[in-house]
Amino acid sequence: MSEAKRLENIDKRHLWHPFTQWKVWSELAPLIVDRGEGVELIDVEGRRYLDGVSSLWCNVHGHSEPALLGALKAQADKVCHSTLLGLTHRPILELAEELAPLLPEGLTRMFFCDSGSNAVEAALRMTLEWWQKKGGTAARRKSAFASLDCAYHGDTLGSVGVGFLADFHHSLESVVVQARRVSPPHVYRFYQGMSDDDALARALLELEEFFEREGDTLASFIVEPLVQGAAGMWIHPAIYLRKLRELCSRHDVFLICDEVATGFGKTGELFACQHAGVLPDLLVMGKGLTGGLLALSAVCVREDVFAGFSAPVEEGKTFFYGQTYAGNPLAAAVAVANLRLLQQRDTLGHVRNVAQWLKEKIEEHLSELPWVDEVRQLGVMTGVELTAEPGSRKAFSAQQLVGVRITQRARELGVIIRPLGNVMVLMPPLCITRDDVSRLVRVTAQSIADVLGQGPGHV
Ligand SMILES: Cc1ncc(COP(=O)(O)O)c(C=O)c1O
Repeated sequence: MSEAKRLENIDKRHLWHPFTQWKVWSELAPLIVDRGEGVELIDVEGRRYLDGVSSLWCNVHGHSEPALLGALKAQADKVCHSTLLGLTHRPILELAEELAPLLPEGLTRMFFCDSGSNAVEAALRMTLEWWQKKGGTAARRKSAFASLDCAYHGDTLGSVGVGFLADFHHSLESVVVQARRVSPPHVYRFYQGMSDDDALARALLELEEFFEREGDTLASFIVEPLVQGAAGMWIHPAIYLRKLRELCSRHDVFLICDEVATGFGKTGELFACQHAGVLPDLLVMGKGLTGGLLALSAVCVREDVFAGFSAPVEEGKTFFYGQTYAGNPLAAAVAVANLRLLQQRDTLGHVRNVAQWLKEKIEEHLSELPWVDEVRQLGVMTGVELTAEPGSRKAFSAQQLVGVRITQRARELGVIIRPLGNVMVLMPPLCITRDDVSRLVRVTAQSIADVLGQGPGHV
């Protein structure tokens, strides 16, 4: 039996993969990653694949980047783990010092966690507890969260509450408290038949009315700024985020920007809220914080948020929340090296080039395919919306497994991509070269054409 087959058997016997349909998985030969080099992953049989989704949207400088591995090894020689509960450590302090000047103005206090979901959970709880601990009837009324329709903020029960999707979560309905919802100005889904301008005007009005109605009861509003990633790369204009900021301020509602997906350069700015000049009260980060090497996340907050918890013991305002590996020293040391590299290599400048190359190649290879209904892109964050009937906006049914089949075909052609329903996602590591951008888009287009044919009637 080959080594690949032996490993596959272990996988099929013992593993349970996240967000993965078991029957479909069990019938496919898995790609078993052995190594990574630059923008490529290499399987146990030595085949190379372009990592077109940056290992779930987190890789920044490529795999096995020597500067990051050096930081990791140097820290491993000192201490691999020590807690932030009642202690502190050098790498997390160095990280705080490096990160502070890069944060949007006003965010001075950092609360470290281990994953995006747990940091979102922390941010939500901070805002809720802030109001409850403040006391008084008006403050205590502020006990609800709000978010955008089809938002995704993670998978703990609290973060599912602000990102509830009926298809995924209907069996959790009895235990998840669903947030109040507003429809984003997404023409494709919510305001069909309208022009972008009309949809935006309508969405802004709805937002204003929503705050008039619900503002008094909201502790916070959480948003993925500018790009709702997991919804399928839905992009809203900066003016929408600015309006949200204005309404949150007017109605005393904390604005939480969830930059877990958008942060660390993926949209062309370090944080997406900076495109809009919006200053959040709390900013959540994860994924790219360590350049995509290790699990680390943070909630960065304004001093007045922190002040709600920094009181004498008898006031009982301690924030009882945290994880064992929150702010792990290895991850923190790598994050410091990541931030330095981002600046030394002018990664943001490079992303602006990558965005332009992506745009050109999409125009060249994807725009003519009848199945491609819309391409949405900001920086490297790209969603290719497919349709079952060109011109109709009709989606393929889940049973057709179109995304899986396209992904499999791309893999045969040496590229890793991943679908979100009818949307094929492209989000390469930020360091990608022009040639590899070309390869990524060309293979995606070819895979779509190979699976769906060149025109209707081939599916
Ligand atoms: C916007 C957003 N928030 C939170 C999360 C959850 O992060 P994690 O998977 O690290 O828990 C994600 C993950 O994709 C995300 O895209």
